[in-house]
This record gives sequence, structure tokens and C-alpha cells, in this order.
Amino acid sequence: MLDRLEPQSPDALLALIKLYADDERSDKIDLGVGVYRTGQGDTPVFAAIKQAEARLVEEQDSKSYLGPEGDMGFVHALMPYAFGKDAAMGGRLAGMQTPGGTGGVRLAVALARRAGVGRVHLGTPSWPNHAQILADVGVETATFPHARADGTADADALLAVIRGAKAGDAVLVHGCCHNPTGIDYSPEEWDAIAKAFAEGAALPILDLAYQGLGQGIEEDAYGLRRVLAAVPEALVAYSCDKNFGMYRDRVGALYVLAADAGQLPAIQSNLNALARASWSMPPDHGGAAVRVVLRDDGLTRLWLDELETMRARMREVRESLAAAGTAGSVDLAPLAHQNGLFSTLPVTKEQVERLRKEHAIYMAGSGRINVAGLHQGNIDKFVKALADVTG
Ligand code: LMR
Repeated sequence: MLDRLEPQSPDALLALIKLYADDERSDKIDLGVGVYRTGQGDTPVFAAIKQAEARLVEEQDSKSYLGPEGDMGFVHALMPYAFGKDAAMGGRLAGMQTPGGTGGVRLAVALARRAGVGRVHLGTPSWPNHAQILADVGVETATFPHARADGTADADALLAVIRGAKAGDAVLVHGCCHNPTGIDYSPEEWDAIAKAFAEGAALPILDLAYQGLGQGIEEDAYGLRRVLAAVPEALVAYSCDKNFGMYRDRVGALYVLAADAGQLPAIQSNLNALARASWSMPPDHGGAAVRVVLRDDGLTRLWLDELETMRARMREVRESLAAAGTAGSVDLAPLAHQNGLFSTLPVTKEQVERLRKEHAIYMAGSGRINVAGLHQGNIDKFVKALADVTG
């Protein structure tokens, strides 16, 4: 029976990890998968996490099961950072731990489907896994343009979709550091988006996977908080994989805002059932380490300092790229105004392939680069190579 399965192409982004590892050229540059790198090209464990892990080893006295909701200490400790001072939203907000932000998105879409959502609107381009999750859960995907040709966010397209949505529609929006373009909505645009959601029928699903890597913890949560303050219901997928550097430990959460606190027990029972049937319980270690950091003022300060260093370095890289002006046919100036790890360059698949084969530069076929893969030691090479393949 299993011989009936059609071969699937490997996930293109994850395949890049292996291609890069197998390349023996010493000047290779990895601009592929979204991990932060230092100016030396490393992805170290956060110092705050190292200390939290040491404490966990010392103090953890059991690895017995916790349940499908995972570590609720972690889930609650994260809330003031994501949702601000009024994190409890009058008792209407509940959450649970998930395996990474991917688990959060998956659970959000599966819950929405159970609640009657049949169609999810998605701005494109988007993180490729969004579309895969929507298809796999079995909801229809409708797309709208995320950005305009001039490199600004197309808030009008999103507003039109929200205003035109009917009951049974959800709209999936990136909270900050848009993946793959780095192009975010402005605060004024978020105000309009929140108002449109409040007046319309669509269920908002927000994906916040890079909080703190754009403009700052508070700034990056602006849109999410505006929407949640305005609407009766929303779903929020959150990832700690990047802002705590926990990539392989898979640390995430799903939060649900209900119209009425009395609806939360039924919602939570559905989430528990969905989680139980999918992964039973989330992996514990990473969430526990984040909890230890967030419950300790010193470790929290250390974590925030580390985040700030990352943010400043990525800003520097963006400014160096923008200062280069153009590389061949590519205008690099807009990168200075984009946020987070990613930007998408107007290059063809053939040009991406030439960058890889001729210059040992690895980036997604969509033209997405991870700016954290660049530093003072390799930016010139990158700009010259880009000029070579696009000039
Ligand atoms: C990325 O887009 O590179 C990251 O979100 C990693 C992933 O899982 O795709």
C-alpha cells in the first residue's frame, strides 16, 4: 500500500541547510534559514538561557508529564511581553505551550477550522509553511498582496480583505518582522487594521515569531496589542525560537482571546484535544528555560540586552547594505527600512542558483536573504556577487 505514495520534494528552505553544510568552499555565505548569527557567523546559546539551563539541571526534580498545555509558568511569564500590562485582557485571554511557533500556527488553524472557519486569507509572499499548514489542516487559502512594488506594505489590500470577509473567514497576519520581506505595517496602518477587524466578520490570526528582533519588544508588539484591544476574538501564535535562540528546542505558544471569559473552558478543551491528537504534549526543556529567565530580573535584563545587541547588529548590516546603493539591478536602499532577519531581493531563481554555484552564497529561491548571515567580513563579497549575477 505504501508504494502508492508520490515522492514529495524536500522543504526547499530546510534543504538549503544541508546543501550549505556540504559545500567545502571556505568563503561560503549562508543567507538561508532564519537563524541569527553574530559578526563572526556563530549562533551561540543566549547567556541568559545558559544560566537558566544550569539552574534547571540543578533544581528540576522530575521529568514526569505536565499535560497537553505544557508549562503554564512559561505561558504566563511570556504574556506581559507579548500583550503588555493588561496581559490578562479581563480574563478573556488563555494560552498553552506548543512545539515552536509552527505548533502554534498549526493549532490556531486547526482550532479555527473546528470553530467553522473554512477559508484563511494570507498575504503573499508569506513564510512558505503557512500555506502548507493551511492546506494540511484542510482550509481554503485565499491570497492578497502583502507589499507594493515600491517596497511598502500594501495595507489597503489587507484592509479590503478584512472589510470584505464573511463569517467563516480568518485572516492570518504577521505581527512584526515580516517573513520573507521584512516589510511591516506602520503604527498608523495597524490602527486602521485593528479598526477594520473590529468592524468586520473575520477572525484575526496573528503570528508573532520575531518579537524584539525588529524595533524592540514593545514596538514589535504594537500591532498585535492594537488588534487584541479592538476585537472580540483572536488567535495568536508565538515563537520563542528566535528571540530566545531556542531553535531546535521548539519553544512556542498559542494564545486565544475569547469574546467572553466564560467561553474559555470549552475553547481550552478543544485545544487540549487537538494537541493530544497531534503531539500529546510539547517538549518541556526550552519552555522551562524561558520561564526561569522571565521569572528572574537579572536574567531578564541579560536576555533583553542580548536581544538589543542582535537588533543593533542587524540594523548595522541593513545600513551597510543600503549604503552600498545598488548591486547590479538590485536597489539595496529599501533594506534600511525593513525589519528583522529577512528581506526579499528582486532576483530570479536562475540568479539565486548562480549565486550558489559560482559564489557559494546560499539564499532561498524566492530571493529571501537572512541579513544576519552578513557581517563586515563578507558584505563586500555579497554585494559584488549580487552585482555580478544581476548586472
Ligand atoms: C525561516 O523561515 O527560515 C524560519 O522560520 C525557519 C523555518 O522553520 O522555516
